[in-house]
Amino acid sequence: MGFLTSLSMLILLTWLFWLPSPAASLSAARALDALLQDSAYRSFVRPRTGVVYDGRVPYNLTGIKVSGLRLRSGSLRTRGVPMYKEFQLPVGVVEEPYVERLVFVYHNLGNWSSLYYPLPSGYVFLAPVLGLLAYDASNLSATNLPELDIKATEQPISIRFSEVMTRTAVPDGSVPKCVSFDLQGLLNFSAMLSENTCATFREGHFSIVVESIGPSPAPAPPPAPPPPPGGKGGGKKNHHHKKAVWIIVGSVLGGLALLVLLGLLVVWMLKFKTRKKMQQMEKAAEVGEALHMTRVGSTKAPSATVTRTQPTLETEYVP
Ligand SMILES: *[C@@H]1O[C@H](CO)[C@@H](O)[C@H](O)[C@H]1NC(C)=O
Ligand SMILES: *[C@@H]1O[C@H](CO)[C@@H](O)[C@H](O)[C@H]1NC(C)=O
Ligand SMILES: *[C@@H]1O[C@H](CO)[C@@H](O)[C@H](O)[C@H]1NC(C)=O
Ligand SMILES: *[C@@H]1O[C@H](CO)[C@@H](O)[C@H](O)[C@H]1NC(C)=O
Repeated sequence: MGFLTSLSMLILLTWLFWLPSPAASLSAARALDALLQDSAYRSFVRPRTGVVYDGRVPYNLTGIKVSGLRLRSGSLRTRGVPMYKEFQLPVGVVEEPYVERLVFVYHNLGNWSSLYYPLPSGYVFLAPVLGLLAYDASNLSATNLPELDIKATEQPISIRFSEVMTRTAVPDGSVPKCVSFDLQGLLNFSAMLSENTCATFREGHFSIVVESIGPSPAPAPPPAPPPPPGGKGGGKKNHHHKKAVWIIVGSVLGGLALLVLLGLLVVWMLKFKTRKKMQQMEKAAEVGEALHMTRVGSTKAPSATVTRTQPTLETEYVP
């Protein structure tokens, strides 16, 4: 049984490891950033400064949009960019380290948003994740470039989302919020400036989210536990929700472990039974009961004592 227990533990560990974790999605998101930098740079064929070029993504990432905008760093700082897709860069935006020309790469992750940027449970996106990252423009064939740090020193960069979903299943009192993800995958919520505008002082990825306890796009949300007795407890809602999620995760894991153990036990019992049978047959063969050996020429061959059913044609031939 010790072997079986360790085997099931191993299976369980493998399964746990395989589950998507924030670390896994961060490295996937960073790999996507590198791929989109490449796609944006490829769209530049003798690019004009200050003109937006739309890039092409590999067909297996259909739904993601990418663009590139090449600028002189001096003009960025003194003039800003009134409109680059959903982003508006005010006067006073500087990069670090300093480069003479830079490229702003724009991402719209569309229906891939929650795959690359999973939200904490209980939140859903109301808009696609948009990204704004900056790179050195000195070599337009370069790949795997490091991002430049972007800082808005006066006014914040504003993001006016063009497609914001309205949700009817939003619980009372939960208001849409801005969310930002920095390049380390850290997530930060902030208040919206207006019904479709968020602000940031840095580069990163941005969207609008809302807390949703009700039906979510996630497959089959588990039923919420009954509310605690006598409780409005608004502040505790989130805490209870987290606790409920842990209880559900715990019971699912426990149930799975039990299932694996049971399955292994059944397999083991079946094997045991077969072995018992084999042993009996071997014993019988030794005594010479299983098969009758007859001499055919000079070789020994087994022959069945009862003749098999004669093969018959399915439809008899009637003349
Ligand atoms: C898309 O295809 C490329 C190869 O062309 C592959 O390296 C990459 O992992 C694929 N991405 C996804 C999300 O399937
Ligand atoms: C997003 O939509 C496109 C079609 O518009 C589809 O090919 C792609 O598989 C979708 N991506 C995801 C993650 O569902
Ligand atoms: C630009 O980058 C490409 C790819 O990394 C490299 O092969 C090339 O030598 C670079 N050109 C310059 C001028 O640095
Ligand atoms: C989150 O955003 C707020 C408002 O933009 C900012 O004051 C705060 O420093 C940010 N926190 C982190 C950890 O980035």
